[in-house]
Amino acid sequence: MSAEHEIENLLHEERRFAPSKEFAANAIAQPEIYQRAKADRLEFWAEQARNLHWHKPFTQTLDWSNAPFAKWFHDGELNVSYNCLDRHVEAGWGKRVALFFEGERGDTKVYTYLDLLIEVKKAANVLIKLGIQPGDRVALYMPMIPEAIIAMQAVARVGAVHSVVFGGFSADSLASRIQDAGAKLVITADGGYRKGKASLLKPAVDEALADNKCPTVENVLVVNRTNSEVAWEEGRDLWWEEQLNLADREHVAQGFNAEHPLFILYTSGTTGKPKGILHSSGGYLTQTAYTHKNVFDLHEGQDVYWCTADVGWITGHSYVVYGPLANGATQVIYEGTPDSPDWGRWWDIVQKYHVNILYTAPTAIRSFMKIGQSVTTHYDLSSIRVLGSVGEPINPEAWMWYREVIGGNKAPIVDTWWQTETGAIMVSPLPGITATKPGSAHVALPGIEIGIVNDEGVEVGPGHGGYLTIKEPWPSMLRGIWGDPERYKETYWSRFEGKYFAGDGAKFDADGDLWLLGRVDDVMNVSGHRLSTAEIESALVSHPFVAEAAVVGAKDETTGQAVVAFVILRSSHQDQIGSDQDTSKMLRDHVAKEIGPIAKPRTIFVVSELPKTRSGKIMRRLLRDVAEDRPIGDVTTLADSSVMDTITGRINAGAND
Ligand code: WT7
Repeated sequence: MSAEHEIENLLHEERRFAPSKEFAANAIAQPEIYQRAKADRLEFWAEQARNLHWHKPFTQTLDWSNAPFAKWFHDGELNVSYNCLDRHVEAGWGKRVALFFEGERGDTKVYTYLDLLIEVKKAANVLIKLGIQPGDRVALYMPMIPEAIIAMQAVARVGAVHSVVFGGFSADSLASRIQDAGAKLVITADGGYRKGKASLLKPAVDEALADNKCPTVENVLVVNRTNSEVAWEEGRDLWWEEQLNLADREHVAQGFNAEHPLFILYTSGTTGKPKGILHSSGGYLTQTAYTHKNVFDLHEGQDVYWCTADVGWITGHSYVVYGPLANGATQVIYEGTPDSPDWGRWWDIVQKYHVNILYTAPTAIRSFMKIGQSVTTHYDLSSIRVLGSVGEPINPEAWMWYREVIGGNKAPIVDTWWQTETGAIMVSPLPGITATKPGSAHVALPGIEIGIVNDEGVEVGPGHGGYLTIKEPWPSMLRGIWGDPERYKETYWSRFEGKYFAGDGAKFDADGDLWLLGRVDDVMNVSGHRLSTAEIESALVSHPFVAEAAVVGAKDETTGQAVVAFVILRSSHQDQIGSDQDTSKMLRDHVAKEIGPIAKPRTIFVVSELPKTRSGKIMRRLLRDVAEDRPIGDVTTLADSSVMDTITGRINAGAND
């Protein structure tokens, strides 16, 4: 069934869930917010920005004269960390809980805003002592522990630029990101707890830095989380705890220009090389704080908020580290996996901390659905007031399950569409206003202008599929790709004149509500994480046995999409090659080593040929048909139309199981 056909069915969704009267009456965002933003978009954003503390107030909201390089609030100065910490303490909220940390083994730690501020000040002084200057890059490779947040805040506080690399990435991926950013310092931990045991991180850092591969790195700061035995390079490696204990407790946050860079976060694109997405300070903090408050209906000082994302992804940046702290929220962070020690763990945490707002991904929701309602029956989830979803389209069944089983049939669901590049939520219901319908992300937030266009860039009306574009600059937009301004223009701004091209297909229904149709480029979405087909293909062909590889995303019940690879082996290695099963395991391990376990293909088909057009382009559409186990589509443009018979013949003969 085509995506087009599927969406036709979805568009006939008749169910509507309006917020209760009480919810609507008490909601942070009230209906006039849409009119206010429409009336004067830039003034609306300026108002949001004025909710922050400015060391020096801005007088100009947007400078778009050098489009697509935007400057927001650019004659103003602020300190991001001051906004997240100091001002709350100065306002008398020092005793409010900022973080409830739940370790995977059940160990816990509570940080008030004052506690967090003290730690961040000490960490900032450590960075200064290590010679970190404003603008210097600091790479982080951390488990989901409070020190990760403290480190990010400290880097921001001194005006340096963090580049967080998700702890699931391999040493090679870490090394290439450190090199690209030219990081001077790496902050890591010996390891973290995952699935009941210590999972080490420091060895990957050692491997990444070995043989002078990353000559810019001067020091490695190591948090002792698991008391594991780790290798140590004297002069380079330093224990985090020791350094913080020695550090001065006072640090005065200085203001930086609103356009001062805040962080780089690498994400997959259509080519093999990850893109270092660059974000800056004032606009980013403005939009993350505004969306966090309005989309999740955060009543700070009352609500307990929990976003399950890791700090290694944009969701962890915007909706764990920056938005919530800027808003003075009380939040939960959890170190481990949802199934440790069993699938009740998240629900135990919700009950224990009386979580009111939960933000997670469809892939997790579908995993729980598979286990069944029993995972939640022992727990009291009645504290939940708002539910959020992000990362990929949420199918109506999962949406309804989320609403009924987790939300007790009362909590509004906000399906939030955005990207690493957008920095903050762009499309979402507002929970006290929108009558939600299962599967739709609804409308652009106040202040955001989106359009769905055809190949010629012309807006298509309701009911027609097209490309999702953003028509006006927004405060938390990416400021570029690190070190590659041309690629920034080319990737996002060249396809449609004057519009940002998101890479997603979308459609408005007759009510004007948005439905996301998935990626339109060679990017897959596995468990809400973007992976590029080109990146995995290049990892596969870097193995000496592999001559050629083609990767496609196939529909998967739990992860949304799964990685499926087709490989041609080198005949020169024929005698060393074992069974297809062994080969498959070997290549999956190879991809895990090159990129990380998240990129491991679910299935590898060993084939003798790949379907190509006369000009030599691989026809992924046909491979997708094979991967999704349906009849092969039109093969008339193939250079050799018998190739697909050979491929399916070999697969059906069971050669690959
Ligand atoms: C891509 C961005 C934004 C944080 C997590 C992912 C897909 C994201 C939704 C949604 C349908 C969604 C898009 C987008 N996506 N949210 N609510 N409905 N699709 O960040 O890794 O930068 O991926 O995720 O395809 O382009 P990311």
